[in-house]
Amino acid sequence: MSKFGASLNLSVPTLQELAKEPITKVPEQYLRPNLDTQTDTTSLPQVPIIDLSKLVSGDVDELEKLDHACKEWGFFQLINHGVNYFSVENMKISVQEFFNLPIEEKKPFWLTPEDLEGFVGHHVFDEQKLDWVDPFFIYTLPLNKRNPRLFNSFPHPLRINLENYSLEMEKLCITIIEYMTIALKIKRNEVQELFENSLQTMRWNYYPPCPQPENVIGLDSHSDGGGIAILLQANEIEGLQVKKDGKWIPIKPISNAFSIVLGDTLEIITNGVYRSVEHRAIVNSEKERISIVAFHRPQQNKVIGPIPSLVTTERPALFKQIVAGDYYKIYFSRKPQGKTCLDVMRIKNDIGE
Ligand code: OGA
Ligand code: NI
Repeated sequence: MSKFGASLNLSVPTLQELAKEPITKVPEQYLRPNLDTQTDTTSLPQVPIIDLSKLVSGDVDELEKLDHACKEWGFFQLINHGVNYFSVENMKISVQEFFNLPIEEKKPFWLTPEDLEGFVGHHVFDEQKLDWVDPFFIYTLPLNKRNPRLFNSFPHPLRINLENYSLEMEKLCITIIEYMTIALKIKRNEVQELFENSLQTMRWNYYPPCPQPENVIGLDSHSDGGGIAILLQANEIEGLQVKKDGKWIPIKPISNAFSIVLGDTLEIITNGVYRSVEHRAIVNSEKERISIVAFHRPQQNKVIGPIPSLVTTERPALFKQIVAGDYYKIYFSRKPQGKTCLDVMRIKNDIGE
């Protein structure tokens, strides 16, 4: 979601309202006849699960697992993460209640052309089909990015719970980066510096049940543009899929776990040693699904490029340097399409990657 680029279609009523009607067919603009949402469930690879408490206690095997997950998947589930249980549970409840507010009470949270935050409707690129989701988008950190229009209007518990959760997510992001730098055997501050006072945004996704789930997509295939996204499922409905070796792998929600999604900026900074992951969300006919995603990315004015200790003669720089804000601008102005935005940054060289 963005402050830039594509036109916004606000004429579409919220899907949540639409799906309250007893509809048997979805509107044409959501239909994707050739979609392949089936996955072959035989011989699926094991999705990495990382235990943060083991990393903290210095377990080298766990560090190896983390390194492997970031290199081969760009994705892992994180358990024993140490985030306060009540912060997480309260956030889930508040977001669920927020989506369930009557439409009239949601009006103050509609996007405005001035700030482009709130219930954002859909970004429409050309003839693009729409995703089966109501997204709510908001800047949460640093503090001066918080939009008083939204923060001052939130129901009180949501505001408190969000403030809490936002800080917990920032802390967790810094911890994850710390272990990544240990696994990468690089200087601690090389990556950390880029994520100091990082921009944190959140996207809360409401996916209503859908009468034709095999022909719609909740969120189309994309990689995230930033560094690290921490995804929390507010309810344990399956829907997230990540691409691994050309195959869509369904992610089974684990209670008390987060899904960690690596984004393009991290792939650029680590010179492709760690990778961003292509992912999408599918929907189902029975149940709504809600996810709460906290994105972390370097501030607009930081220069991002492969960090010096990961550029060697054997592994020359794969990506150009760019001012972070310029990359985000490019990212948000394009139609999401797998990982193609990263190609803009690639340096063509002899090793042909
Ligand atoms: C996102 C995202 C997946 C999900 O918001 O960027 O990938 O499961 N969400 O909601
Ligand atoms: Ni995403």
